[in-house]
Amino acid sequence: MSDIAILEVDGKKYEFPIIRGTEGEVAIDIKKLRGSTEGIITIDPGYKNTGSCQSAITFLDGEKGILRYRGYGLEDLAENSNFLEVAYLVIFGELPTKEQFIKFDNTIKSNSLINEEMKNILDGFPKSAHPMGILSSLTSALTAFNPKSVDVNDEEQMYNAICKTMAKIPVLAAWALKKIKGRSLNYADNSMNYIENIMKMMFAIPTEKYKTNPIVANALDQLLILHVDHEQNCSTSTVRIVGSAHSGLFASISAGVSALWGPLHGGANQAVIEMLESIIKDGGDVEKYILKAKDKNDPFRLMGFGHRVYKNFDPRARIIKKAADELLENLGIDDPVLEIAKHLEEVALKDEYFVKRKLYPNVDFYSGIIYRALGIPTDMFTVMFAIGRLPGWIAQWREMRLNSEPIGRPRQLYIGENQRDFVPVSKR
Ligand code: CMC
Repeated sequence: MSDIAILEVDGKKYEFPIIRGTEGEVAIDIKKLRGSTEGIITIDPGYKNTGSCQSAITFLDGEKGILRYRGYGLEDLAENSNFLEVAYLVIFGELPTKEQFIKFDNTIKSNSLINEEMKNILDGFPKSAHPMGILSSLTSALTAFNPKSVDVNDEEQMYNAICKTMAKIPVLAAWALKKIKGRSLNYADNSMNYIENIMKMMFAIPTEKYKTNPIVANALDQLLILHVDHEQNCSTSTVRIVGSAHSGLFASISAGVSALWGPLHGGANQAVIEMLESIIKDGGDVEKYILKAKDKNDPFRLMGFGHRVYKNFDPRARIIKKAADELLENLGIDDPVLEIAKHLEEVALKDEYFVKRKLYPNVDFYSGIIYRALGIPTDMFTVMFAIGRLPGWIAQWREMRLNSEPIGRPRQLYIGENQRDFVPVSKR
């Protein structure tokens, strides 16, 4: 197999090295394209064909529907591991030993307090604020209380910054929920594990002793594992590009939260439930909504369907669908939204429009049903996604800094006016 790609422009030939990934993926290395030609660049809106980095964190084959973190299959991890262990794996590259796990857990626990002055910032938000806006702002505000920049080559400083981030973001996420509910704020309880604490901080009220429901904690643990990383998606690329300017971890993650908020990305889990509820309200006519989704004059899209990289079943959707079925049965919940979702999936998967375009249910199609069953309000769904994606963002930020990647700064093809002279306002 050739190691060189040849590009011919205006009769001149240029050679570029071909590099291969550990799973046989092939990339043409165009780092020297602009410098070795007459300033030629490539154009690739949405980066559909552009690799922005070499990464050892997540392997994803969208055609075959494969997703692995650090070489471990997602199904394997969801069945046998837990969220905090997977977080360690994704961030540091290997599953932790017992001692490493205890140290990680304890260091996170010792960092879970938030400066009380942060409450003044939270107080400034109206009750109607979206929790993703609150989370993004509070994450950014953490920089004010942690102004010292971290030396990324100092292992201990990095470790502590990572544990601090893992500790504080779920507290802020829970506070965002308490704010919109008008309830008093909670802190973590160091006798509980990471997942129990997320539930406790979100749902405990001062007048009652909080008791974890193990079915609920287990379902949330699995769901968060499925969200941990997904290579260079929109929010992760945002975190990497903001971090490439040597902005700190909190600032970079705050930008990632904002990117995740969008309905084409993490915001889809909220949009799916809203869509399913409105189909029910409208009489449950699934076929009508399939027709709307196919109509190019109608902006409506089937939320929770389609994916930039999966042209096959999203492996996360398979696990989630099964988990949703089991959870609802265990909790004895009969949710009409699940029935509509299954009907919609069945119709769409047989419809030529969806088949031809390889549009399958994605991770967000069923995750909202689980969140609903766990008692999490719809506005909070994307915040839950952010908690799940946090280790992935941290891992990618760390990798990018340790690899000394250059600042992210794409080129453009200018298509505006050529040079012209200023016209005074009296002559316009
Ligand atoms: N409903 C109807 N048609 C669709 C849908 C959909 N959900 N998704 C894609 N299409 C059509 C699209 O109109 C286009 O048709 P045509 O070729 O006739 O112009 C074709 O399929 C290709 O779509 P695209 O928009 O070029 O694909 P993309 O890779 O740019 O977009 C996507 C991917 C996820 C933004 C898109 O599928 C979408 O908007 N889905 C709904 C939102 C959603 O569920 N997002 C969550 C993604 S998974 C969670 C995450 O990782 O963030």
